[in-house]
Amino acid sequence: MEAKIKKIAVFTSGGDSPGMNAAIRSVVRTCAYMKIECVGIYRGYEGMIEGDFLPMNARSVNHIINKGGTILKSARCEEFRTKEGRQKAYDQLKSEGVDAMVVIGGDGSFTGALLFNEEYNIPVIGIPGTIDNDIFGTRYTLGFDTAINTAMEVIDKIRDTASSHHRLFFVEVMGRDVGHIALNAGVGAGAEEILIPEENLGLERLLESLKKSKLTGKSSSIVVVAEGDTTTGKNVFQLKEYVEQHLPIYDVRVCVLGHMQRGGSPTCFDRVLASRMGVKAVEALLDGKTNLMVGILDDDIAFTPISEAIKGKTKINKELIRVSDIMST
Ligand code: F6P
Repeated sequence: MEAKIKKIAVFTSGGDSPGMNAAIRSVVRTCAYMKIECVGIYRGYEGMIEGDFLPMNARSVNHIINKGGTILKSARCEEFRTKEGRQKAYDQLKSEGVDAMVVIGGDGSFTGALLFNEEYNIPVIGIPGTIDNDIFGTRYTLGFDTAINTAMEVIDKIRDTASSHHRLFFVEVMGRDVGHIALNAGVGAGAEEILIPEENLGLERLLESLKKSKLTGKSSSIVVVAEGDTTTGKNVFQLKEYVEQHLPIYDVRVCVLGHMQRGGSPTCFDRVLASRMGVKAVEALLDGKTNLMVGILDDDIAFTPISEAIKGKTKINKELIRVSDIMST
């Protein structure tokens, strides 16, 4: 029979995302509710190796549900990739009396957690925290909704100035290798075109579309480009040059949104998602489950083996591509 879990550690790892604090709060409060001890680990695996722990109770997480970033801080840790690093982390967890862990992060953080579990058999449940929405087994990752709203609001502002000057803007958004942020923020902000890695629009088609925009009397054009898009073989600055060469009628500017997309107060959607996932993560550990990720599918909480979550591919919403085409008429 499995030993009873008395102390759970929670930590955030990899790139931060809005909603991580709400997830920490949920894990800590669920532990308090279940009368389990909870300890936060600062700076992800780095803090685990150094024993940078913080005992947490229900009051430790007051007024953080609305805060961006992560109160536990985050890091991408090279030492944890080594056997020696993981041994140190295990020794620290043992001396702290940790029986199980909740990791809030993306695929890199999950890969580390799985390896650690194979070597030391500490039960672990993952909560997908990344703005990229690139984790298989969940329709939404924590922070994605906030990030698309942030990107959309900024593109709205860019539209104001673009329209005043009859300009074309290439706006680069984050997303690593996938186009979920670009597609959603682009449709939400009424972009004329959206370039994503999952769909090859082609440079010819881009030029045609921009020509049409001018001819049909549009006063501005916005092309949203996913940072991971390689289909045109050009980055946003090269796209600007290309369009200026081929369509000199356009006055072109570039805006790279960057890390602002990772900050800010989480949306209600992300706060609710985080609260639901945190409760389920702790409950799963207490039920003797391990190596699973908590996700959301069809508005129901669903578990996926972490091994599948890190290997599987998320699908782009093809319907949104068609909607975007029609809307840019
Ligand atoms: O995974 C989240 C993310 O913000 C990606 O969208 C982006 O490519 C990357 O992290 C940036 O990483 P860093 O913060 O290390 O520059």
